[in-house]
Formats: sequence, C-alpha cells, structure tokens
Amino acid sequence: MPNPAARVRALPEYPLAAIPQRKRELLARGVDVIDLGAGDADLAPPAAVCDALDRAARDPRMSRYGFGLGLPAFREAISAWMTRRFGLTFDPLTELVPLIGSKEGIAHVAFGFAEPGDVCVIPEPGYLAYLGGAVLADATPHVVPLRQRQGFLLELDDLPREVLARTRIVYVNYPNNPTAATAPLEYLERLVARCRDLDALLVYDNAYSELAYDGYRPVSIFEVDGARDVAIEFHSLSKTYNMTGWRCGWAVARPELAGVLAKVKSFIDTGAFMAVQAAGIAALESWSDFVPRNVETFRARRDAAVSAFRAHGFTCEVPRATMYLWVTLPDGVPSAGFAERLMSEEGVIVLPGSAFGAAVQGFFRVSFIVPPERLADAASRAGRVLASFGASVS
Ligand SMILES: Cc1ncc(COP(=O)(O)O)c(C=O)c1O
Repeated sequence: MPNPAARVRALPEYPLAAIPQRKRELLARGVDVIDLGAGDADLAPPAAVCDALDRAARDPRMSRYGFGLGLPAFREAISAWMTRRFGLTFDPLTELVPLIGSKEGIAHVAFGFAEPGDVCVIPEPGYLAYLGGAVLADATPHVVPLRQRQGFLLELDDLPREVLARTRIVYVNYPNNPTAATAPLEYLERLVARCRDLDALLVYDNAYSELAYDGYRPVSIFEVDGARDVAIEFHSLSKTYNMTGWRCGWAVARPELAGVLAKVKSFIDTGAFMAVQAAGIAALESWSDFVPRNVETFRARRDAAVSAFRAHGFTCEVPRATMYLWVTLPDGVPSAGFAERLMSEEGVIVLPGSAFGAAVQGFFRVSFIVPPERLADAASRAGRVLASFGASVS
C-alpha cells in the first residue's frame, strides 16, 4: 500500500474532522446535542441571495466552467463593496481573485510564495489552514504563541533574528479566530512596516471583518500605508451572510501578488460555480439591508453566552467581534479533557484550545451558532463538568 507523503504525516488531525461522526453517534443515542463547535451558524442567508442562485442556476451559461476569471460582474461587485466599506479602490480584473471559499486561497497562497525551507510565521492559537498551506508547500512553519497579556497580537519582534531572516510569509487574522482579539491600527502599521523590512508576504485573513459589535468597525489591511507592497487580504461571504456551505470568497492584492495566487489556482481548480458567484453579487448588494440585523442577532447571542458562561464559573472577555467566546479554564483543568467530557457526558460540543495548536492549553472556544436559550443551557451543562473537575483538581 502506498505510504502517505511526509508532508501529510507532518500535519496534525484537522480538529473539526472527527466531530460530525461523534455528533451522529450522540444523536443516534438520543442525546440532546448542543453543537457550539464550528463557526457555522444555524441562520439563513439573505433571501435575495437564494433567489439569485435560483435564477442563475437555471441559466445554462452559469453551468459552464468559470475559469479563473469567473463572473466579471462578481469581481465588479467585490470592487464596489471594497470601496463602499473601506474607501479603497481595486481593479476588478487584476487585483481580485475569486475563491472557492477563503480557506482555499489561504491554503494555496504558500504554493505561490514559499520556497521549500522558507519560514512561514503561524500564529498559535490560529486557523489551521495557515499551518496546512505552509506544510503542504514544503515551507517551514514557525509557530508563534499569541499571549493574552499581549492582546493576542502576533509580535514579529519577539522572533529570533535568524528566523526573521528566512521569513517569507506571515499569517495574521484580526478580528481573530479563536481568541476574538482585535488589532489596533498602530499594531497593523507596525506589522506592515516589519513585513516590508523583511520583504515577507503579509497574509491578512479578514474573514470576520463584518461581524463586529458595539460600534467597532474592523479595518482592511490596505487602510495602512504601504500595505499594498506586501499584503494579500482574504475575505469571505461565509460568516457575514450565513453562507459557510456556499464556498465563496476572494483575495485582494496588487496585481503582481494577486496574479501569483491566480496562477497557482489555474493549475488546481477551474473556478467556483458561477451561479454561486451571481448569488455573491446579491449578497454584497444586500449588505446594508442584511448585515446590521444579522450582527444584532449575533450580538444578542454573544451577550447571552458571556453572561451564562460567567454565571457558571467561567472567565471570558466580552468579544468586540467574531462569533466566538474564548473561555479561560481554571489552572489544572486540561482543555482537551474538559471538551471531551463536556461532549460525552453532557452532549455539548466546543473546541478545546489544543484544537488551534498543540501547545494551547487552558482555553476552549464557544461559537454563537445557536439561539441564546441554547447557549444558556450549554453553559449550565459546562458548569456541571467544571464543578466535577474542580473537585478532582483541588
Ligand atoms: C480565521 C478564518 N479564516 C478563514 C476561514 C475560512 O472561511 P471560508 O473558507 O468559509 O471562507 C475561517 C472559517 O472558519 C476562519 O475562521
């Protein structure tokens, strides 16, 4: 039997891979499962998006290959949205790359920029597509712990000089999954300046740019002077419009950088279903009707989750963005063991800190993907598990 390649053996198991099967088993046993695992809300996309898909799916032209160009009107809609939202101008044809979900582009970008052995700087905890992309491209991942006392900001100046000298790609994500940290503009300015010094590609993962609360408005990295020289930014319709399964996103960068990703992809895929791109236009055009109301739903869930988890003995900050609560566990409570018992004994699925990097201990992530009452029920079940750990820890 053929052996898997070393690069595949070097990858950890993907944290969400085993959960659907575990969930099926629990449901089959009649357990009342509350799934707060993936960032995958139970809410509907905008009606206009479904109507647009329906119309487009019946148009035979949409059933043909999209190729890298895709639907030019989708590129134009993205460009117009980037201008409305961030005040930035991007050429629809040369500075945008439509993606089959942003994960796809994030995972492929290292093929375009990293030589074998080049260092890719990976935040931990972090979205595992960064590690996956770097390892599959035969680059050398350099994992950097994000520290609560540093606001979970990745500080390049903390890295050894010899690592920085070999750094080709730096991945960052703010608003952050899983910590919900946000990045001040002066931090982003520092980051862009350091990447320019290093001549490293700054991969700015902005999947949560539209899911922010209490008047906070996340920025685009391109609002920072000089970012166009080094950055590529990734956007997604997934979280903003409850369209995770539709697989629709884009990358944006100056033509020389965007063109590299487009070239890599031209050898890997033949573009997203164009009817989905047509629906993407409807999503972007429905921003002002849909997004503030949808964010309000998540805000109510956030508030319910914060108060319920705190009431049951947990410690967490109030997130200003994302659909996640990053909950601190008391010393001595192992995050993987806690999440496992919470799932098997109480039917509540959360992701342990270790799902976002092997060394991450002492946290678990809750997604606000169910209504407030279910979040409150989940917190109460989690409190029971915590209490039983408390007994064995003390
Ligand atoms: C930080 C981050 N980036 C990117 C993605 C990918 O989103 P999609 O591939 O659905 O666009 C996710 C999804 O969970 C995420 O959490």
